[in-house]
Amino acid sequence: MPQSGTVPQKHPKEKHDHAILNFPDGFLWGAATSAHQVEGNNINSDWWNWEQTNQPPEKRSGQACDQYHLYKQDFDLAKSLNHNAHRLSIEWSRIEPREGEFDEAEIEHYIEVLKYLKSLQFTVMLTLWHFTLPKWVADKGGWENRATVKYFLIFVKKIVPEIAEYVDLWITLNEPGVYIYETYLARDWPHAKKSWIGQVKTFLNLASAHTRVYQYLRSIPAGKPVGIANNVLSFQSDHKHSLTEQIAVWLNDLLANHLFYMFTRGSHDFLGINYYFHVRFQHKGWIPREVAASQQTHDASDLGWEIYPEGIFDVLTDLAGDLPIYITECGIASTNDDRRNRFLISYLQEVARAIKAGVDIRGFFYWSLLDNFEWHLGFEPRFGLVEIDYSNLERHIRPSALVYTDIIQHNGIPHSLLRFIGHTVQAEEVLEKRYKEIEKEIEIKK
Ligand code: FCB
Repeated sequence: MPQSGTVPQKHPKEKHDHAILNFPDGFLWGAATSAHQVEGNNINSDWWNWEQTNQPPEKRSGQACDQYHLYKQDFDLAKSLNHNAHRLSIEWSRIEPREGEFDEAEIEHYIEVLKYLKSLQFTVMLTLWHFTLPKWVADKGGWENRATVKYFLIFVKKIVPEIAEYVDLWITLNEPGVYIYETYLARDWPHAKKSWIGQVKTFLNLASAHTRVYQYLRSIPAGKPVGIANNVLSFQSDHKHSLTEQIAVWLNDLLANHLFYMFTRGSHDFLGINYYFHVRFQHKGWIPREVAASQQTHDASDLGWEIYPEGIFDVLTDLAGDLPIYITECGIASTNDDRRNRFLISYLQEVARAIKAGVDIRGFFYWSLLDNFEWHLGFEPRFGLVEIDYSNLERHIRPSALVYTDIIQHNGIPHSLLRFIGHTVQAEEVLEKRYKEIEKEIEIKK
């Protein structure tokens, strides 16, 4: 009989959930990239041109990851990591370097790239526009120019019949809102300028481009599902009873998360969600402001982006409706790979929770397969499951890539992995055996 004050001999049995957090059958597991960020030498694009004059040498895309030549190696790696889907983009400026002039060799190149992905049995999600424009389009005013909708449609109608048989899901546009934000508000991307009118025109032209490309893609035989990849943020007020903070949340949510969909209603077969940001508003005087990164109470990425897994649950449940959802991007810039492990597990746990709550989520594409060129920030942010040594372009699989593989193989999050959350457990401690097995499998395939 334990005396009062002493530790009882027998503890009540701990209640512990050992069940795997399962994902639905046929769930797509993959990673995402975009052409300009990985291919290298996109010399006919507006970005390339801008980098030469506006950016220091180390922040120019240059050869990037040279995926243009090394794509087979990269797709083999993704396959060996058990990915069953891949999201990538094609580069308009390579295919149509001058107005009306299509480069057949580049078209052939992309056919080869996509054929290779299909030969490895990947489900292919293809983005038609991921931020870069041919220089000739930009010189005519880019997306501010109404005619760009027509130019884009001409490009799409030329390339799509050549590649449609290798594509399973289409993304017309990547993050129209981020493009407008970076160009007109933050002004750290090409064509940076302050112009409310330019901003509105760009928004309307992007919306019209999406709608028209959607109609075209749905009209071709065996048309595949079409959507956009939208940057969706989780907004929150710091004080429940602050009216101004609530208004800030409502307005930002409307503008960033819903407006593009409202203007393109009926032209989406699925919702593509890129999730990176949690924003808290705090009133200082009358105007609520975002809580600065330095005041954040959560862990953050190397870019200072708050790590807030609950946010992805919020946006998924908020956007749940008639359309299926794909998480078209979600990832972390970190040179601390254990942080990426915890990121993956905790975010995917929230995705599993959203599925359990009834949200129709069909796939997850981690950003990114490789470290790559992060736009105006250059090569410093490290988003990759695979690390790139830029001195020789060698690829090195990070342990977090194997954590992701473990999840994919279980089509769920095994209980052993949940140990990562909230602890500073090293990947190898948990995965040592598994890690060696996978490494061996990859070694054999090389
Ligand atoms: C997204 C972009 C993608 C990449 C990630 C980090 O907004 O779509 O190209 O830069 O952020």
